[in-house]
Amino acid sequence: MTRLLGTHSVSSAWNRLRNLMRALGWFNTCALILGTVDDRWIKTFDRRYRVRTSGFINLRETSFKAERLKDATQYGPTNGWAARRVLRDLKLPPTTHFCDIGCGLGRICVLAAEMNYARVTGVELAPELCEAARVNVAHCRLSAAARATIQIVQADALDYCTTSDDDVFFMFRPFSGEFLTRMLDRIAGRASEQKKTLTLIYTERVVATDTHRQTISGHAAFKLTKEATHYGQAFFVFTCAPAH
Ligand SMILES: C[S@@+](CC[C@H](N)C(=O)[O-])C[C@H]1O[C@@H](n2cnc3c(N)ncnc32)[C@H](O)[C@@H]1O
Repeated sequence: MTRLLGTHSVSSAWNRLRNLMRALGWFNTCALILGTVDDRWIKTFDRRYRVRTSGFINLRETSFKAERLKDATQYGPTNGWAARRVLRDLKLPPTTHFCDIGCGLGRICVLAAEMNYARVTGVELAPELCEAARVNVAHCRLSAAARATIQIVQADALDYCTTSDDDVFFMFRPFSGEFLTRMLDRIAGRASEQKKTLTLIYTERVVATDTHRQTISGHAAFKLTKEATHYGQAFFVFTCAPAH
């Protein structure tokens, strides 16, 4: 019981539950709790894909570049079942070059490779997470051909996006607001330089404040085209067209 409540007492857990119910409604609250319990303790996604991507990692406990820490959030994975549903529904073409910006332990890269995209890149700044992501890719249940489409690149997302030729970028709340704006400018710059429309799939837990979604919606180059919520995880799909 103590483990289930984490740092909460019974009364603070009850208050939190009541606040969640008020803010999200019972359906989203139950979905969120189900997703969290599964990801933390039952780990159906990791078992199914033969990977280790669950849990949270404080970046201060890794060799993440010290001067970038203020711009970053801690590691935590996207709900895998929710992401799989969204990627399936999106039906991106097989020619897609897909990039998970801040790929952590590589969960989304494994899922993207399962969709048979031409190339999947995971960009991650923490060397320990890159190493663990490569182990996950090497041992996951995908075919050798699908695994071969994945590359894990140890780099700062901002540097990587300066020359990237990817078509689709995935982000699970990896950055602070100010850094997110710099990243959006960089992606918009790439769209114009390459004269092609890019896609951004932005996701966050439904309990997170939606200031990041508002930041993207407020950026002149990005247009919200789809949104969906599964297992307490919200997804927003934006297109980013080249400037004229
Ligand atoms: C919330 S986790 C998301 C993990 C994964 N994308 C997923 O959805 O399961 C965010 C990740 O972004 C990484 N990150 C943060 N800032 C970064 C940066 N400037 N360059 C590269 N990776 C970064 C962190 O190390 C962390 O692993």
